[in-house]
Amino acid sequence: MSVIEEIKQKIDIVDLVSEHVSLHKAGHNFKAICPFHSEKDPSFFVFPDRQSWKCFGSCSTGGDIFAFVMKKESMEFGDALRLLAERAGVTLLSSPRIEAEREEFSRLRQINLAASQFYHNFLINTREGKPIIQYLTGRGVNQACIESFQLGFSPGEWESLLTYLKERGFTEKEIIMSGLAIQRDTGGAYDRFRSRLMFPIRDSRGNTVGFGGRATDDSMPKYMNSPQTPIFDKSGILYGLDRAAPAIRKAGQAILVEGYMDAIMAHQYGSENVVATMGTSLSEKHVLSLKKLTGTIVLALDADAAGEAAVLRDSEVAKGAFGETLAPVATWRGVIQENVLAGEIKVAILPPGKDPDELIRQSTEDWKRVINEARPLVDHIFDVVCKRHDISSATGKSRIVEELKEPINQIKDPVKKLHYIQKLAGLVRVEVNSLAAIINKKEAAFMKTTRFGKAGTSRELIKPLPRLKISKPIEEFCLAMVIQLPGSADLGEEIKAEYFENSENRVIFENWLDEPDTEKLKKRLDVSLHDHFEYLSKIKFPFTDEPGKQKALKDCILRLRENYFKDLKYREGILLSNLNNKDDATKVLADGIALNVKLKELFTEKKATTRHQRGTIENGKG
Ligand code: GTP
Ligand code: MN
Repeated sequence: MSVIEEIKQKIDIVDLVSEHVSLHKAGHNFKAICPFHSEKDPSFFVFPDRQSWKCFGSCSTGGDIFAFVMKKESMEFGDALRLLAERAGVTLLSSPRIEAEREEFSRLRQINLAASQFYHNFLINTREGKPIIQYLTGRGVNQACIESFQLGFSPGEWESLLTYLKERGFTEKEIIMSGLAIQRDTGGAYDRFRSRLMFPIRDSRGNTVGFGGRATDDSMPKYMNSPQTPIFDKSGILYGLDRAAPAIRKAGQAILVEGYMDAIMAHQYGSENVVATMGTSLSEKHVLSLKKLTGTIVLALDADAAGEAAVLRDSEVAKGAFGETLAPVATWRGVIQENVLAGEIKVAILPPGKDPDELIRQSTEDWKRVINEARPLVDHIFDVVCKRHDISSATGKSRIVEELKEPINQIKDPVKKLHYIQKLAGLVRVEVNSLAAIINKKEAAFMKTTRFGKAGTSRELIKPLPRLKISKPIEEFCLAMVIQLPGSADLGEEIKAEYFENSENRVIFENWLDEPDTEKLKKRLDVSLHDHFEYLSKIKFPFTDEPGKQKALKDCILRLRENYFKDLKYREGILLSNLNNKDDATKVLADGIALNVKLKELFTEKKATTRHQRGTIENGKG
């Protein structure tokens, strides 16, 4: 038995939760006012049979004991595990190799931290730092921000930092590995950053993992960043996220800007939900890390960028990653609730020639207005495309439809998709059904069924729901395949983290989304997960050829998803029998219908796969 399982065996979820929440018996289960959001009627449930919990209300999250502690204490998995291990009296051991890796990471973090202190000190306490302070002050950065963002200045000499770090006990090899010094061909090393205004970059936990360095004169490049290291992944990191996370949760949206200075100024002027990319375009990794905090991302784009096709393309990435997760699939409330649909990527367009930094300083009111006026990405794409063509001519209309077809088809949520088809129909003045047929043949069929109200019936919902078995083997099997099969990266978005009820699986999956490379993935996992990860990496599958593998993986995902929805339905039954308010019951029933539609879709999909499989076998014979 793994330590994770041992801890689960020893701690009863009802005991654990009742220490934080006042639970009331509800049949076999327990209910309470949700500790994670404010509400009047209880929608938080604990299921002793499954040793799990779920909030059916606006947070619509759930999981096992680890997930509860992670959420309640805002902890990472590893910390929650250590806390609960102590409580359960379970001793955690880790292998020497794991310890070595842990040590390497920790050294890299220490080096970066030491360097940030060195640069900061050089900025605020030396003669050389004075003009840079003046420069910052001139740009409106106040003392508090210089402190809280630990801004710094790197000396102009070739080996200042290197010497300092060596004195502090770090080896040259370690310093080179951290990216702060560069190896000389002739032996020895020299400082990477010289005479630059230094922005320490922290990960979401607040560890300094790298730097951005801005030239203080005309020298090129204007910005230089730390190279990729085991602890610094440029394409995924967001500047300011450690400080912005609580504000993002609170505001219900994350604002994305391009520059370090933009993020700092926003924070200084009270918009603390702002983060910046490292000058790279928005990546799926960025979206995935923000998604843990909020359903809405606002891209603050300058006027030029907003009109460019490149930006749209980049945002497509984001929409894919985001739209999927916020599709009805993922949420209890389903397709019916508008505010769930609203969760998405929005675009705020800055006044011409202004970047956020300038706009904020000029007027926080204007900045807030621009952000408030942010529009859904798809609407923005509509605008850009329509402006490019003559909407009154036949050719123009045809081009517009052609260009908008793909973005519309990418929308997973049927109601939302329909909304945009109608919008486009209005714009180019064609009949909705004909347009729907052009955009997507299936779309026309969808409209028919909803018009006649055939999309799901509530009957299925009312019949008694089966007790579910704990879905652990399927979770593990699926996750093992995802990790082991190289082609699985494309399938990532078909799986949602919440399909995994066991936190150890869920956390590994979430990390895999950010880092599909097995070696790197393992490195970023908390040591407490390494054994489980090893176990998953060694699970053997009974197929050898590539198509066989791909097919098995697809099947497995379908089954996992089906389990998840059946489980939701089962719990929905419990919720329904616990409601005394008629409005709530209607709401739950409505959600249930959405759920049924989802299950039916899955069923069709499964049938299609089986048919396909049969076809292949027959073909093989013939
Ligand atoms: P200021 O000019 O001081 O206002 O800085 P800024 O952050 O507004 O710079 P700018 O708008 O030119 O660039 C936005 C972001 O792109 C920066 O914060 C960097 O992350 C990145 N960037 C800009 N120039 C370079 C460069 O030369 N190299 C690299 N690697 N990144 C850059
Ligand atoms: Mn700027």
